Amino acid sequence: MPTQQTVLVVGGTGRTGRRVLQQLLGRGLRVRAIVRSAARLPPDVAGNPDLTVIEADLTSLREDELGQHVRGCDAVLSCLGHVLSLRGVFGPPRDLVTSATTRLCRAIEALEPTTPVKLIFMTSVSVCRPQGLDTRRSGFERAFLRGLCAVLPPANDNQRAADYLLGEIGPENAFVQWVVVRPDTLLEGEVSEYALHEGIVNGLFLPGKTNMANIAHFMCELVTNPKTWADWRSKLPVIVNAADG
Ligand SMILES: NC(=O)c1ccc[n+]([C@@H]2O[C@H](COP(=O)([O-])OP(=O)(O)OC[C@H]3O[C@@H](n4cnc5c(N)ncnc54)[C@H](OP(=O)(O)O)[C@@H]3O)[C@@H](O)[C@H]2O)c1
Repeated sequence: MPTQQTVLVVGGTGRTGRRVLQQLLGRGLRVRAIVRSAARLPPDVAGNPDLTVIEADLTSLREDELGQHVRGCDAVLSCLGHVLSLRGVFGPPRDLVTSATTRLCRAIEALEPTTPVKLIFMTSVSVCRPQGLDTRRSGFERAFLRGLCAVLPPANDNQRAADYLLGEIGPENAFVQWVVVRPDTLLEGEVSEYALHEGIVNGLFLPGKTNMANIAHFMCELVTNPKTWADWRSKLPVIVNAADG
């Protein structure tokens, strides 16, 4: 019988993160969730015996404390994001996502796991691959996004976190392997057919749609399905509903 995998989730109280928790637990995985407030967890997961809740502020956990929570995990999933309010967008920590990604990677590396830990990081189609690889982004759209990064801290933060994984961790790290998941406009709704693309498919001003349940499904597949992992490891897949892709 295969051993039960253990996954650490950050951002599990968010709109997408809660779906990730529900689906991971529904697949019988053991889950640890670092949350600021356990009261914000969906009621249907709160009492699940496979869920361990760590009530803490991720941004102020020491590296050794984070290491304890990461120890023994096969994968770490992040659905963190700046809360869409004036304070969430412009207040501290402006580097929430970059800081969390960096610190999670360092904590994993410090443990020197014998099998690399999968880091699956949710971001958005505002994040671009380097060297103009997202060929469907026009010059105007790229300039617009650079402008957004200059004035909107969350846009800059998400791009920097992805750049860190691409540049600093890279594809050959012995301890951390990663996938950056790029959904388009988030929608409610159930798991449905979805399409995965290596690059951007929809224009910035004619966005596609992505059910949050589909993001959760794909993130779970990355954990549990070796072929899905092999197909997307070290990539930044764009996920959109099939009707849009
Ligand atoms: N909105 C969109 O249309 C859209 C589209 C594509 C991609 N995205 C990206 O997808 C990601 C997730 O989106 P979502 O709408 O599911 O997120 P969300 O509902 O806003 O949830 C954000 C999560 O991050 C946590 N968080 C926020 N600030 C924190 C802090 N300072 N310290 C610790 N945790 C903190 C929240 O915890 P609390 O519950 O404690 O606040 C929550 O769990 C974001 O990065 C966003 O940029 C968004």
